Amino acid sequence: MIISKIEFLKNLLSGFDLKKSVVLDAGTGKTSAQLLVDKHPNKLICVTYPGDKRKGMPVQKILKKTNNIKYTLLYGDLEDIQLFPEETFSFILADYLLGEVSVDKVLTIFHNMHHWLQPNGQILLLDREYCQTFQPQIQYLSMGEVEGKADLLKFSDCNFIEALDMFLRIPTQINFFRKHERTFDFPSLWVKSWFDQTGFHNIDLTIFQSRINIKEEFETGLIWVKERIQRMKNSNLQKGLLEEVSNLEKAFYTNLSETYFLRTHYCFQSSK
Ligand SMILES: C[S@@+](CC[C@H](N)C(=O)[O-])C[C@H]1O[C@@H](n2cnc3c(N)ncnc32)[C@H](O)[C@@H]1O
Repeated sequence: MIISKIEFLKNLLSGFDLKKSVVLDAGTGKTSAQLLVDKHPNKLICVTYPGDKRKGMPVQKILKKTNNIKYTLLYGDLEDIQLFPEETFSFILADYLLGEVSVDKVLTIFHNMHHWLQPNGQILLLDREYCQTFQPQIQYLSMGEVEGKADLLKFSDCNFIEALDMFLRIPTQINFFRKHERTFDFPSLWVKSWFDQTGFHNIDLTIFQSRINIKEEFETGLIWVKERIQRMKNSNLQKGLLEEVSNLEKAFYTNLSETYFLRTHYCFQSSK
């Protein structure tokens, strides 16, 4: 089945009556906030990471349009159990949340979402399946912060340029220059184990594929990488990287032959 992520989510949500529900949009953004507003829940709290205006501002607009004072945006860390009282929500949506959560935080966030759900409350969690191209010689340990220098610790002797090239070409998103950015896409097998470990029941998994335009995807990735390079303080490194990005860009357009690739997604549906 090939279907866009939004269509998939829309179809799935059409099976839920949320009119009496207290809903959490865990890791909000335009898509999830709009889809939830359209379901007319009784109450809706959209959470984004403190300072994440990129997501917060458009969501604020969507919520304001509804004129519903029970629909609110919250800048907060889902790792903080104090964010909400126990059993606050009857429904949680985590749409593309995990991709921006580092692995050390994940289990706490699952635990918290379980804690905040009412008995029999439902959760939908949807993200991109982990997909690693076969490059056994390259294994990243960690990437440095954007401030000053970009440290790149890795097992192999491949250089920075190869790393950047890999970053642009493979769907696995690496926490390249900053913390709190998209880190890894996790294997659904791990996600299933996090549901299990934190006490969720009736864990149901659906896998689906969506068609992704390669050029659009590359260009979005390019903007992302360039923004981060621009923020670097080491001007030599910055200059060198921008040159290499420009080379990669040329190579990409010269070699582009396919229009689409298929991206695998998982969607978990579970209850407390
Ligand atoms: C890729 S966006 C989600 C996309 C969104 N659901 C949509 O439909 O457009 C990831 C969201 O998760 C949020 N996020 C990541 N880690 C978080 C955390 N620890 N606490 C709260 N929000 C977090 C980000 O701030 C961002 O709003």
